[in-house]
Amino acid sequence: MRDAAGVRRSLLAWYRRNRRNMPWRETRDPYRIWVSEVMLQQTQVATATPYYERFVARFPDVRSLARADLGRVLALWSGLGYYRRARHLHEAAGIVVREHGGRVPSDPRAFATLPGVGRYTLGAVLSMGFGLPWPVLDGNVARVLARLTARPLTVKRPADARELWALAESLLPRSLRRAGGQAGPGEWNQALMELGALVCTPRAPRCVTCPLRAACRARALGLQDSVPPVAARRTLLRVRRAVACVRHRGRLLVVKREGAHLDGLWEPPGVELERGQDVSAALAAKLEPLGIRARLEDSGARERHTITHHDITVEVWEGELLGAVPRAGARHRWVPSAGRSIGLSALGSRLARRARAGSKPTRGRARETLSRRASPRA
Ligand code: ADE
Repeated sequence: MRDAAGVRRSLLAWYRRNRRNMPWRETRDPYRIWVSEVMLQQTQVATATPYYERFVARFPDVRSLARADLGRVLALWSGLGYYRRARHLHEAAGIVVREHGGRVPSDPRAFATLPGVGRYTLGAVLSMGFGLPWPVLDGNVARVLARLTARPLTVKRPADARELWALAESLLPRSLRRAGGQAGPGEWNQALMELGALVCTPRAPRCVTCPLRAACRARALGLQDSVPPVAARRTLLRVRRAVACVRHRGRLLVVKREGAHLDGLWEPPGVELERGQDVSAALAAKLEPLGIRARLEDSGARERHTITHHDITVEVWEGELLGAVPRAGARHRWVPSAGRSIGLSALGSRLARRARAGSKPTRGRARETLSRRASPRA
């Protein structure tokens, strides 16, 4: 970059005028910054914000998180998706308490070995939490850097990613903390992200208002719409499921899910459907090992949600209990309509809230998680 100092000055001045308020931008606490950065990795700012607020109110520091039951942590994460992030954060908090006296380590080697901490999280927490000169690279930053240099670089290709990290590194301000404000490198990293989210967007970038337009090679060459190449959206796989909503005294039967996506979260027993399948029999077969028999009826309601490349339509069946009510066991529970004491999936929460047996769920489109998106996290 020919005029790196000028680029830094222009972007920081723009950021100070245009930055959006976000709760994690008001703190220098490395723990809170860490929580926010983990949440923001696959989730948009607007979605993450209330989760962040609830999370840090309930777990205000590393020790409280480390002490917490994983179920409670997952309960607060319920609906955010990518639950492995929450497990890792919880596990890492335990290590921070045991091995670092409860203080988030500012030593990059120590922080980098914690579960779930990759190069992005390392750079974000060290720069924003400790004011250390470590770069970040996410989709927004990568796009800004590719355009600035007019290089068709994409984070998806390892060789490109190496170049992008090197570029991010080379642009970092080396100055330490800015008096009274946020740390220099942390502020710089957020300025790059903010530019990518608000101005240097994947489609139709707002070059006329861009503080870096004079330095931008892509703009000079008229390449801002083709650099970096916009990746085609991955097509979503369609999946059909059915769940059995069996209720007893206003409580809903839930089981612990196992498998790739919602592992460890609770929701009504369900099955993935194949064409021509007898849904009622398939659901009854799920209930039987729990000692539960129910008269099952399709409520007609359908829930749709997206989980990492899957577009899932869920048929909601209502089940009227027949015979004795088995007590909760290791694999099933009866949950009240409110309460976040166990980690329900987003679907599980919605169905639990409809406490009255037989009440018809409304048709709705909900997102269990935001899939990784090509759009900016605006
Ligand atoms: N995305 C990831 N981290 C962010 C931050 N600190 N501010 C805004 N967007 C972000």
